[in-house]
Amino acid sequence: MNKPNDLAISATDLNDIDSQASHDNHFNSILNARLSRRNWLRGSAVTAATAVMGSMGLSACGGGSDAIAVTPTPTPTPTPEKLLAFTAVPKSLADVVSVPAGYTATALYALGDSLRAATPAYKNDGSDTDFDNRAGDHHDGMEYYGLSAAGAPLASGAERGLLAMNHEATTDETLSSHFLHVNGGTTSLPRPAAEVDKEVAVHGLSVVEVKKTGSAWATVNDSAFNRRVTPLTDIELAGPVRGNALVVTKYSPTGTKTRGTINNCGTGKSPWGSYLSGEENWAGYFTRSSTDNAARGDKSVVSLNRYGRRQGGASRHGWETGGSDDKYARWNLSKIGASTNGSDDYRNELNGMGYIVEMDPYDKTKAIRKRTALGRYAHESAAFSVPAVGQQLAVYMGDDSRNEYIYKFVTTAVWAAADANPADRIATGDKYLDSGKLYVAKLAADGTGQWIELAMSNALIQAYSAYKFADLADVLVNARLAADAVGATKMDRPEWCSVNPANGEIYYTLTNNSNRTVNPSGSSQLAPDSANPRAYTDMKGRSAQNGNPNGHIIRFKEGTGAAAATSFTWDVYLFGAESGADASKINLSNLTADQDFSSPDGLAFSPYTGICWIQTDDGAYTDVTNCMMLAAIPGKVGDGAKSTLNYATAAGGNLAVDTFIGEKPTADTLKRFLVGPVGSEITGISETPDGKTMFINIQHPGENTSLANIGDPSKYTSQWPANAGYGAGKRPRSATIVITKNDGGRIGS
Ligand code: FEO
Ligand code: CA
Ligand code: CA
Ligand code: CA
Repeated sequence: MNKPNDLAISATDLNDIDSQASHDNHFNSILNARLSRRNWLRGSAVTAATAVMGSMGLSACGGGSDAIAVTPTPTPTPTPEKLLAFTAVPKSLADVVSVPAGYTATALYALGDSLRAATPAYKNDGSDTDFDNRAGDHHDGMEYYGLSAAGAPLASGAERGLLAMNHEATTDETLSSHFLHVNGGTTSLPRPAAEVDKEVAVHGLSVVEVKKTGSAWATVNDSAFNRRVTPLTDIELAGPVRGNALVVTKYSPTGTKTRGTINNCGTGKSPWGSYLSGEENWAGYFTRSSTDNAARGDKSVVSLNRYGRRQGGASRHGWETGGSDDKYARWNLSKIGASTNGSDDYRNELNGMGYIVEMDPYDKTKAIRKRTALGRYAHESAAFSVPAVGQQLAVYMGDDSRNEYIYKFVTTAVWAAADANPADRIATGDKYLDSGKLYVAKLAADGTGQWIELAMSNALIQAYSAYKFADLADVLVNARLAADAVGATKMDRPEWCSVNPANGEIYYTLTNNSNRTVNPSGSSQLAPDSANPRAYTDMKGRSAQNGNPNGHIIRFKEGTGAAAATSFTWDVYLFGAESGADASKINLSNLTADQDFSSPDGLAFSPYTGICWIQTDDGAYTDVTNCMMLAAIPGKVGDGAKSTLNYATAAGGNLAVDTFIGEKPTADTLKRFLVGPVGSEITGISETPDGKTMFINIQHPGENTSLANIGDPSKYTSQWPANAGYGAGKRPRSATIVITKNDGGRIGS
């Protein structure tokens, strides 16, 4: 069953793994950010206030070219653009995409859509093949890359571009991805090769060209840019782990490459224009024999256990049973070969998964690279610090499992302005992402925190008794163990992060955590602490959901040294909650019915409007509403107040937890913008550089449809997007949607 974050079934959930300011100030910072972009105003004598009002005038200029001559001419007084002026979308259980009045949302690119002329249209009845040339499944993180009218790479291109996206997983129940097969597929081992090949191919990445004609966007079939990357695509290992003994496999005896990428979740866009993809719950696709610990007899057992692959663990789909070909054998991690180094089996295969993957979306000829310097864990997004010439860059990242950590990578290289438009984007990635320092976050109860470097020079890492690290590559491959060694802070499932372009502060969604409890027992349960301060019960119907079922959003402000700082301050920007929940214990951000949400996951600041977009992947509030997207205009770290939560302990005492709650949102600073179809997660945030078109992904609509009902569309829990007039058949499909404002304005105004 594939039901992310439904806490009641979390033990069997393969996507939910447990391995262990004032508004005025904000207005000014947005204003300044806009002014820096509006270089078409250079030399004119406009005031700052007029410049903001000029955003309407920009659209009249037709494309925002830098070459527009600035001759002040009398113009009608423009209406100032007001962000979040739309009417909030109510919570909903309808099987539709709901957006505010004045906006239009249309399906654009769904599971199975053909990417080339020779591949027929998707029939959506389980009979389709050739998924190497079709859209993959479970669209997730996504980034937009502009093209000129003539089709050349142009970052500012707002009417023609590429969408690069992750295809995280498939909707499955008992091995089979049932919507992909006519009768739902086989649910016992061995799995037929034809089913396995299809299921493998819907994972990975895709690049698809999109183009606006009139006011309508469409994908461009047969574009030379269209591309699929799958778990079988050759990918280079780059950085300190490349060539290390830990990544020697039968596929790559030199330990320099891996076969493909899988379970790609959040994304990032580098300052040099490449695409970054995080490998998340990859471990579950592999199996390991029940006697493998003894066969290995070394520290690799500690590593495998820490990363969620205990001996005897069954794989999610049984792909290792597809046949004798090596492409099936690679899903079996057992030590079965006679070699001493692993060059004759896949005992080390798992060490090639779990990285940030870099791709040039514009150039198929450039090798895709896994950036091992950024560490190996269940990656979500990768968010860059605001680049400053002559200074190092930071890449912020999280590890999405219960009680895992927050990380940042700091480059050795300092930012050069010329790299914003380089001749070779992957070579530029080599420059910034293959050398640097990886840090993990430790948060203190007083609202401060430290970034602790994960390196052999750290005495705690050298002395760690549970695992003996050999070198830096070993530290990076086993970043979770290294973070354990230094006592990093265990968080409530870090999902996406993003940097506020107005002030450089870093926002992390902490989606939920069923292992947070006032009276912990066993090693996996934790008491609430300052940075993860809630442990409560939320009812979903008659089912009690315990822990932090609704999640929160934490934010950091770097200390001295900016991106390279080793200290920071933090507070909690927002607590997810039902609006009717107890405001003293649960609804700590005083959310109203127009703002309440649960399980934040996707989060990204628009570089164009400054809006912070928040998306949910929820199973807690889904008795009341489908998942959603909200628009926010946050303040800054420290704009709220210190607060103390008191919990009665089982021993009769009081557990007092101090925390820091950001300024509570108002109707003008947080508003629900979209609600998705039944059973879907909302994810992927990307916009054209004029801010007027937004692309997001609707992942796994109808995911709770039982395999037993595959023959009866009336029993599908969702029929989206077919019920919105998109495509053949009635099986629900993950899809990219395009959102525009009917008056041509910017998204979120
Ligand atoms: Fe793929 Fe953590 O969400
Ligand atoms: Ca509830
Ligand atoms: Ca996610
Ligand atoms: Ca999630």
